[in-house]
Amino acid sequence: MENKKRTYSLWGLLTVAALVVCVAQVGSARAEEIARPSNQGDPGAAATMAGHAKAGAKIFATNCLPCHGAQGKGGIPNPGSSDGTVPPLNPIDKTMVSKDAKVFAYNIDLFIQNGSTPEGPDPAIKMPAWGATKLLSQQQIADVIAYVIRLNHAK
Ligand code: HEC
Repeated sequence: MENKKRTYSLWGLLTVAALVVCVAQVGSARAEEIARPSNQGDPGAAATMAGHAKAGAKIFATNCLPCHGAQGKGGIPNPGSSDGTVPPLNPIDKTMVSKDAKVFAYNIDLFIQNGSTPEGPDPAIKMPAWGATKLLSQQQIADVIAYVIRLNHAK
């Protein structure tokens, strides 16, 4: 009798443990949120405009390459940031990728429009707010978004 009771409670414990593991997994799946800039702000008109990747390649070479590297391959040191380097855009953070080109463009646009400060005690390099400060026109941003999407679809 005693033994049977123990067996039952053992199964009970195992069931509870299995449930806890399931809930933890759902939780970690939720934690995989889409990367968003630290600066709050709306998307720009560029997010829904037609962009030209060829024109975007030139805009990228002039404006983005110094921080994100040639073809967005990254590797540029960013002392004081948690990552230690400026993030590559090729490949781009996988949470930002979408098969839906409009969603992919929206995710990229939020960073380009509003800029972002990386995590870390004192990051030397920050992402400028190209749209909000009118450093680039909306057409230029649409073009550079098309180029970044092409870089990531080339594989
Ligand atoms: C002065 C350096 C600098 C320049 C120039 C720059 N960026 Fe960034 N960019 C950064 C940094 C630093 C981050 C990381 C921000 C963060 O972690 O919040 C970043 C993040 C991004 C992200 C989000 C990617 C991710 O993994 O978080 C995109 C998209 C992006 N930049 C696109 C561009 C484009 C397009 C240009 C050119 C118009 C550009 N950047 C120019 C420094 C720069």
